[in-house]
Amino acid sequence: MSDRLYIFDTTLRDGEQVPGCQLNTVEKIQVAKQLEALGVDVIEAGFPISSPGDFNSVIEISKAVTWPTICALTRAVEKDIDCAAEALKYAKRKRIHTGIGTSDSHIRYKFNSTREEIIERAVAAVKYARRYVDDVEFYAEDAGRTDNEYLARVVEAVIKAGATVVNIPDTTGYCLPHEYGAKIKYLMDHVDGIDRAIISTHCHNDLGMATACTLEGILNGARQAEVTINGIGERAGNTSEEEIAMILKCHHLDIQTNINTRKIASTSRMISSLMNMPVQPNKAIVGRNAFAHSSGIHQDGVLKNVETYEIINPKDVGIDDNSIILTARSGHAALKHRLEVLGISLDEEKLNDIYARFLDLADKKKEVTDDDILVLAGAERAASHHIKLDYLQVTSGCGVRPMAAISIDIAGEKFQAAAEGNGPVDAAINALKIIIRREMTLKEFTIQAINRGSNDVGKVHMQVEYNGSVYYGFGANTDIVAASVEAYIDAINKFPASLGKA
Ligand code: KIV
Ligand code: ZN
Repeated sequence: MSDRLYIFDTTLRDGEQVPGCQLNTVEKIQVAKQLEALGVDVIEAGFPISSPGDFNSVIEISKAVTWPTICALTRAVEKDIDCAAEALKYAKRKRIHTGIGTSDSHIRYKFNSTREEIIERAVAAVKYARRYVDDVEFYAEDAGRTDNEYLARVVEAVIKAGATVVNIPDTTGYCLPHEYGAKIKYLMDHVDGIDRAIISTHCHNDLGMATACTLEGILNGARQAEVTINGIGERAGNTSEEEIAMILKCHHLDIQTNINTRKIASTSRMISSLMNMPVQPNKAIVGRNAFAHSSGIHQDGVLKNVETYEIINPKDVGIDDNSIILTARSGHAALKHRLEVLGISLDEEKLNDIYARFLDLADKKKEVTDDDILVLAGAERAASHHIKLDYLQVTSGCGVRPMAAISIDIAGEKFQAAAEGNGPVDAAINALKIIIRREMTLKEFTIQAINRGSNDVGKVHMQVEYNGSVYYGFGANTDIVAASVEAYIDAINKFPASLGKA
């Protein structure tokens, strides 16, 4: 009989902590339902005490999802635990995830405490959480840099106090894979009562070792892996869910997950699109090039027998290589089907809107790609913005000073301005700033032409600083200057409501 590995998805908690990737409650519910369809065992839905938005999302996800356990994060603090228990009240299966830092640096600098006091606080938090729920997970923050002997004492104490799962985070992504594996083995060998709890991995990718560390943890006895789709997460991210699922599948390690791997590609695209977080083209499993053989030798081999260079069948991760190519002659049903394959289901009214814009784009391009469709679906959200681009006219070229004339719609009222700049984007943004009279600074600006010819849609990602905070904006258009202005306006729409107005 093979072993079972529980997949704990923290895309909506650790993943969502990435600046600019915040989702609203409706989007989180959409993601949670997709994660349920993917087959994850646990969804970490948020950190309820951290904001009313997180609290509300945990409530709504708890109502919307049936099978996975819904988990809420807390510090080892009673008011956090009270708040998490309240947020989880509608969950069919619920878990409180509480914990505290255990490395010497956390104990000394973060808590100004002692090792003994930290054990007492850990035990008290677990006991307090058990008053609300039967399933309590404890995390020993910075366990990666915690001395193994002390860590074993913490783990033993929290299991005795009632923890059902104990999470061993490599919070800073520092561990070498063999060290992390040895840490898990040390706990398996030295903690009394370890068989009464599940040991969980939680690795960060600061040195690019998160997946390797997680795998070593699993091979040494961990039976839960904490992961995110596309490996998103703070800094360099968390362990990538699709990589763990496919490693276990490809290597026949006799450790099973409940993941329906055919839903990996659509889940990845949905997360990337909703969070405006592009997936690097060479990302394992879900990158655009993950299955693209471009060298002549490889293409020749693959044509003779795919096994020569392909260790994963793209269909196993839901990449349908026989997908229909959409063109201006494609019907409504073909677009609907493609959206569904991409993990997006829309009501008829929204579908009609996207179809109209799809036809418009298909007139400008020969083939409409999946990336284009995701952009169209994303633009649907921009339609509800308070501030919208009405029109933009730009003059630029060699020997002329770039000029832009712009019209902006703010809650139904139109405002026009014109300005010069050192390039067409600069001129357009200067004109926009005449209308939106705020001290805003462009911090980051990335233009990503999608993949094919010069008629392709360009995507622009931006970060705009305003009043001490940084706001993320995204725009997509076949005209790259218009995409840049759309991205700037997207960021402005995220300013606090009363400040967004001109
Ligand atoms: O990385 C970490 O230590 C965490 C904990 C809060 C579980 O995310
Ligand atoms: Zn983490």
